[in-house]
Amino acid sequence: MTRAPIIAPSILASDFAKLGQEVAAIEAAGADWVHVDVMDGHFVPNITLGPDIVKALRPHAKIPFDVHLMIAPVDPYLEAFAQAGADIISVHPESGPHLNRTLKRIRELGAKAGVVFNPSTDPSVIQWMMDEVDLILVMSINPGFGGQKFMHSQLRKIERLRKMIDETGRPIELEVDGGVTVETAPLCVAAGATALVAGTAVFKGGPEAYAGNIRALKGG
Ligand code: DX5
Ligand code: ZN
Repeated sequence: MTRAPIIAPSILASDFAKLGQEVAAIEAAGADWVHVDVMDGHFVPNITLGPDIVKALRPHAKIPFDVHLMIAPVDPYLEAFAQAGADIISVHPESGPHLNRTLKRIRELGAKAGVVFNPSTDPSVIQWMMDEVDLILVMSINPGFGGQKFMHSQLRKIERLRKMIDETGRPIELEVDGGVTVETAPLCVAAGATALVAGTAVFKGGPEAYAGNIRALKGG
């Protein structure tokens, strides 16, 4: 029997005018983590929010903040996000010259270290640093925007990474991000995912609907 997946609502799909309330509402609705999408208009073609907003939101929930950095260069900003209260900091290998150094730095700062795979990024990029990661995030869309269609091609990659994680015997979370819905969530879990990011699928219908939306993503 597989464990119900961790659900990490992406606040990218929330009401930005009420961010603090939205974070509190998803926690009350049963969310396991808060997924924060940080974009710089350079590494990805969209701009969202920075460490000051993470810091301002942190007191509004007790659950872990899962911070997904889509910024380059990424290294100069790690400390600010850790100090703002990020519990997990995930980076794309393409966002800096030395992935191993970046992962070590995240752990030194007291956060868990994650690596994010773009749809075209090959799993082998972390083959020699499985001991340095706490989370692997597979993008099932091209990063930059919510509301995109799930790329089924990434299911094989999730399966491959599941095997790589199992071989380590370490409790590395395997998270999927992009186009996760009640239809695609079970496919991700069957492929070996343990955590699911969902923006549109959690925030649709407004606060009254959050608990039901989260329950549905967990498998009912
Ligand atoms: C996109 C972000 C995702 C996005 C997911 O770059 O990393 O977290 O918000 O949104 P949905 O669930 O709507 O595809
Ligand atoms: Zn994300």
